[in-house]
Amino acid sequence: MVSRIIPVDPFDLVIFGGTGDLARRKILPGLFRRFCADQMPEEARIIGAARSEMSDDAFREMVAEAIREFGGKRGGDDAELDAFLERVGYETVDATGEGGWKALAGRMREGTTRAFYFSVGPSLFGDLAERLHTHGLATPDSRIVVEKPFGHDLESARALNATLAQHFTEEQIYRIDHYLGKETVQNLMAVRFGNTLFEPLWNAQYVDHIQITVAETVGVGGRGGYYDKSGAMRDMVQNHLMQLLCLIAMEPPARFDPNAVRDEKLKVIRALDPVAPHHISRGQYDAFEDQPSYRDDVENPRSTTESFIALRCHVSNWRWAGTPFYLRTGKKLRARASEIAVVFKDAPHSIFGAEAGRHRNVLSIRLQPNEGMTLGVTIKEPGPGGMRLVDVPLDMTFADALGPDAEEVPDAYERLIMDVMRGNQTLFMRGDEVEAAWAWTDPLIEGWQGRGEVPKPYDVGSSGPDDSLMLMHRDGRKWRDIRT
Ligand code: BG6
Repeated sequence: MVSRIIPVDPFDLVIFGGTGDLARRKILPGLFRRFCADQMPEEARIIGAARSEMSDDAFREMVAEAIREFGGKRGGDDAELDAFLERVGYETVDATGEGGWKALAGRMREGTTRAFYFSVGPSLFGDLAERLHTHGLATPDSRIVVEKPFGHDLESARALNATLAQHFTEEQIYRIDHYLGKETVQNLMAVRFGNTLFEPLWNAQYVDHIQITVAETVGVGGRGGYYDKSGAMRDMVQNHLMQLLCLIAMEPPARFDPNAVRDEKLKVIRALDPVAPHHISRGQYDAFEDQPSYRDDVENPRSTTESFIALRCHVSNWRWAGTPFYLRTGKKLRARASEIAVVFKDAPHSIFGAEAGRHRNVLSIRLQPNEGMTLGVTIKEPGPGGMRLVDVPLDMTFADALGPDAEEVPDAYERLIMDVMRGNQTLFMRGDEVEAAWAWTDPLIEGWQGRGEVPKPYDVGSSGPDDSLMLMHRDGRKWRDIRT
């Protein structure tokens, strides 16, 4: 397979929070890889902006270090790095004051696509939008890229949408959910809507249930302040898992265009039922050998925030009535493994008799690691001995199917930033989507807070608290193993 590069027009990209962690780990190395892939035009400019005093050269040095550390295998050579750095500059800008804005405006070129990346804490989003406006930096086709968290609840998300709307139209606002930029997540749409094979079966009549697991091995070390006020529900479910659920459950849009896709996703979120308390399991990781507990990590010995959550959800519409969606995500689990599994119903009648056992088709879509898909099918066990059935995987691991080019698959941020430059909002969340997601999330959080519930402890390296296993067992089902 040969990757096809669609070059973007020249642009000026300002990264507010240009010296921060996200810029160093993801945004800048991602831009460099697009530069090496010849997708970023020669005339593109990247301007880091932050409060600290720094020269252009000092920033370039920081960028070079970040690329060396986080650039991955696909980074270019020293000559390419030097060429990239020529396109990079820095401006000291005060988001909450007037310092630096004039100088920043002086760096922008007329008639070039402008994008402003808000890679800063959410408390600064409103200030930045306002100052971009008052200093005349935001031209009518400028774009702003807004990082998560987009609000803390429905009220704050609404307020934020209203603030941004004072200065930018919805078409100018790119709300990032980096899960939408993951290769397999987009492949989900390709598999559903590019094949005739799956869609006829993609409903409550044939699907027994769906499992979405996003398991991490990392804890919350270093981000405790933010995380303890959020928890897994706000940090992962309201956005990432919700987006995955939408792509699985949505009706086929008429076209692959931003509003057609987002209209369909919105309908799914609005069709979600409230979740009953006994269909929610929350957990918190315990200390293990020399590893700290969640409470140690967030330095809050009485914290009742969850680092794990599992839920049984229902999408109440004709397609999905009666088919549960089980969602699960957590920190410090057994493995870093994210997967969507569509578990189909049993064959309506077994002609092979009870001794053939129970066999189900499972379509597993692996987000990470080893991106790919597996379809479990039932066949006859080879050889003599009668009609014995066995389940085997039809495996489409991208790395095997695409060969060495699989390494060329861009990471989520690379793809999303280039989409911003192209003006394609399909993989970004619309304001009403985010609000609808909070409208579903808020009552669940208020519910457990009102009931004074405390998350159950779970062991580091486990699959979460026992409660979460019960969530499935009660329904006569079982979680798939968390493994790489
Ligand atoms: C972020 C969350 O949005 O996603 C983090 O804030 C989480 O807590 C991360 O670790 C997971 O992203 P990925 O791409 O590593 O699965």
